[in-house]
Amino acid sequence: ITSTPTSTPASTFKWAKDGGSTETIQPTYILSEEKRPQLSEVAPGSIPLIDLSEPEEIIREKVVKASEEYGIFYLVNHGVDPELCNETLKAIVEFFQLPLEQGRGLLHSTDHKKDVKIYNYHEPDGDKRVPGWSEALTHLWHPSDDSFLDALPANIPPQYRELIRTYAKEVGVLFAKLFGWLSEGLGLEKEALEKNMGEKLKFYKMQANFYPPCPNPELTLGLPVHNDMAALTIIRQTEEVTGLNIIKDGKWMAVEPIPNAFVCNIGDTVEILSNGKYKSVRHRALTNKENIRVSLASFVAPNKETIVGPMKEIVDEQHPPRYETFLYADFHEKYVRPWLHPGK
Ligand code: SIN
Ligand code: FE2
Repeated sequence: ITSTPTSTPASTFKWAKDGGSTETIQPTYILSEEKRPQLSEVAPGSIPLIDLSEPEEIIREKVVKASEEYGIFYLVNHGVDPELCNETLKAIVEFFQLPLEQGRGLLHSTDHKKDVKIYNYHEPDGDKRVPGWSEALTHLWHPSDDSFLDALPANIPPQYRELIRTYAKEVGVLFAKLFGWLSEGLGLEKEALEKNMGEKLKFYKMQANFYPPCPNPELTLGLPVHNDMAALTIIRQTEEVTGLNIIKDGKWMAVEPIPNAFVCNIGDTVEILSNGKYKSVRHRALTNKENIRVSLASFVAPNKETIVGPMKEIVDEQHPPRYETFLYADFHEKYVRPWLHPGK
């Protein structure tokens, strides 16, 4: 995410449930006019849909094309139990609805190196930093090693622990498939992308975004405009509620939730590893007046000791590197530099 995350003291983020107003948002959430989302200008359209029940050849072709043209796509017929996903999202809502002093209020942190915390992302706006109308619970995860469960917050609903153990295994399988197809799309063996991320030393993070109903969706954002710096993201979102927007051909477009679908997006790391073949998608989340919306984003990223740059297997005299090579730990500093997303 582009903007530096900081924390708002729990007591200042007041949605109706905490005794905040249902009529208007507090002035601190109001963006300057140029930064507001211009809801009427969000274009209709749809991101590509990948059906995992199709033959593998076809799937690979579609994943590659979607990653080149959109940097984001739906995954359907993926075999993951819809009940598991919906129950997981329900447990997240339950956590965020706990009284402040028993729930999210305990975990606010400004230390972005902390693995388990509640963040409130901010949008730089002139000389101010305007908080988004959301909060995010982040924690680590792993596709096969359950020990991340030990570090979950003590006050997370107990069912979340069980659900997320299974959810992690299931999305882990999807990540492996996607990395395999993306690697093959570069003319390489299935393992190539993952090997270039430090193999067993990858970094796995989850971010549960909670967006309470917002009285003024036209004045603020749920999540500021950003690209994911990780390699790949798999998102599960509340089924009935729109919020995610992407930039496609210079215009904002809504990514409508479709039943039992995952949304997968390319992050900056894969854009760089693929030397620009696959596109990291610029996105944001809107708020809405009526409904709570939740999205659970699972990330796979290199670990901080990994050297990240265009993969040597695909770079030669005809295909010179289009990105610098650097230590992933330095990525944040490099990332905010304009060379990475020219013209965006
Ligand atoms: C994200 O960018 O982390 C998630 C956006 C969303 O809420 O769908
Ligand atoms: Fe994101």
